[in-house]
Amino acid sequence: MEHVPTSTPCTCRFLCWRLVVAVQACARCCLRFAGESGDIYAAPAPECGALKAALSATNGNAQASEPPITEGRADNADTKTEACPVCLGVLQCMDSGALPSPSSDVTTAVQHASGNPQPWIPVTTASIAAIAEAVKQEDHEFDSFWLDISLPGSTQVRQQAVWHWLRRDAAAAPALPGHSPSVDVTDLKAALRHTLGEPLAQQLCSRQDPDAELRIGLTFAHPATAAEADFLFGSNSKGRGAKRKRGPAHVQLGRSASDALAQAAAKMLEAKFGEEVRIPPLPPAQPAFVFVRAKREAVYVGGYYRKLQRDISHSPFIIDGVRLGRTSIQEELERVVLPHLRCDSSKFISAGREDMDVRMLGSGRPFVLEIANARARMPPPECFDSMAASLNESGVGVEVRKLQPVNRDTLKLIKAGEQEKQKSYLATCRLPCLVTPDVLDKINATENLVLQQRTPTRVEHRRAMLVRQKTIYSMSATPVPDDSHGLMLRLRTQAGTYIKEFVHSDEGRTTPHLSSILGCQEPAKILDLDVLEVHMDFV
Ligand SMILES: *[C@@H]1O[C@H](CO)[C@@H](O)[C@H](O)[C@H]1NC(C)=O
Ligand SMILES: *[C@@H]1O[C@H](CO)[C@@H](O)[C@H](O)[C@H]1NC(C)=O
Ligand SMILES: [Zn+2]
Repeated sequence: MEHVPTSTPCTCRFLCWRLVVAVQACARCCLRFAGESGDIYAAPAPECGALKAALSATNGNAQASEPPITEGRADNADTKTEACPVCLGVLQCMDSGALPSPSSDVTTAVQHASGNPQPWIPVTTASIAAIAEAVKQEDHEFDSFWLDISLPGSTQVRQQAVWHWLRRDAAAAPALPGHSPSVDVTDLKAALRHTLGEPLAQQLCSRQDPDAELRIGLTFAHPATAAEADFLFGSNSKGRGAKRKRGPAHVQLGRSASDALAQAAAKMLEAKFGEEVRIPPLPPAQPAFVFVRAKREAVYVGGYYRKLQRDISHSPFIIDGVRLGRTSIQEELERVVLPHLRCDSSKFISAGREDMDVRMLGSGRPFVLEIANARARMPPPECFDSMAASLNESGVGVEVRKLQPVNRDTLKLIKAGEQEKQKSYLATCRLPCLVTPDVLDKINATENLVLQQRTPTRVEHRRAMLVRQKTIYSMSATPVPDDSHGLMLRLRTQAGTYIKEFVHSDEGRTTPHLSSILGCQEPAKILDLDVLEVHMDFV
């Protein structure tokens, strides 16, 4: 069969007439079956009754004998705009009038299926303004947005049913645009985007951009048809491909529309399909519920932190309700950065970490704050300088360098840095033996010393018990004035080397250790440790 080009709306009026009169499809679903795409959808929808009248006039009485399918439906489609049996009202959600209010069970089910605590807002008036109003509730600053649309899987089953119905009648065959509904019928999601994308952009004084940070989620839920797509996946395939999330919700929403579902529907033979689904589909008692949620994708702020004082933990360190340390790096960074972004939450990620009693000197340690659902735009560079200055000058002992917006890829660098980058340390130690020129020579001459480190006792509770092999690339030492046993030890090591344990041996769990390479009997002691450098550039 040849594809019928469709350059004007409803090229094949007979097709439209059949859909409108017999199936009671909405005008936009007719456009979909005619293969239309583009701005035509955004025009105010002709009411089905008006379209029907216009089409009947054109077609004369020849086809007027086809009766509308009214089974299970009391109202007369001529007098009232009803929910479309194909799209379940999705393409009518902006055409004025009231939309049904979801019960709290339905709202809970939508919330649960999204796997995210941010609330979904039900839209109960069918208008672009009502959708825009729901978007504005979250008070985001944005220049562009993109619609993330989720539709009931039953819309795809119903589309397939209409397709079969149209093909059953040989007379209608020439009017069919192409071979398969998944190829030749304009996809419902695409049609919805054409229908409300631009009008919504105008309402929001914004524009559409698939890469926009601001995502406007539009979820349509139709519990009454939730089970309609289940047969496509067989009775024994529960779980596989089903993506049913079990949860507290009493309402099942069924599968969402997807390419896989459309393909499964298209692949099934008509006879078998017809055993499961009413062909053509009947109008639903009420249209799908509409939910909206605006959310900014994560944004990232990074830099290097320095920690000039001890007794500061990495993240808040609370045991049995008691805080350890004066403050934490995470809290200090968040305190200066987050108020400018008005976000839901943030995550602190750094290239490794140091203990609470260890300073972080030199050019600092790379970190990234991952910021969820910021309402504000990313501030300009000057603003980051003043955030840095306020932390530097606060006197808490935490400073920040090169604070700036970064992109998501830096997370990979940070994670790689944690595993791979070399670190330099300064350890103040006490040796059991005297610090002689010979001892200093021996230390300075050490290169590529390979250690076997069993998991230290102090981290046993959070790390797997195993022996890690780590390398000290180089060392150098200077004596501590007025202390014949004191040693300032500088080391450059592989990431993940336990320095304290190399010095005091952790009761023999680290071999060799400082004393053992010097030939002293007892293990050495560690008094202080500083990280001098994390050898890594990332911004
Ligand atoms: C904050 O301190 C760091 C050193 O830790 C310095 O490099 C940076 O320039 C300072 N920033 C501001 C804005 O004072
Ligand atoms: C060991 O190296 C340090 C740092 O390079 C140097 O200051 C010190 O003089 C060296 N000591 C000896 C004994 O070579
Ligand atoms: Zn429709």
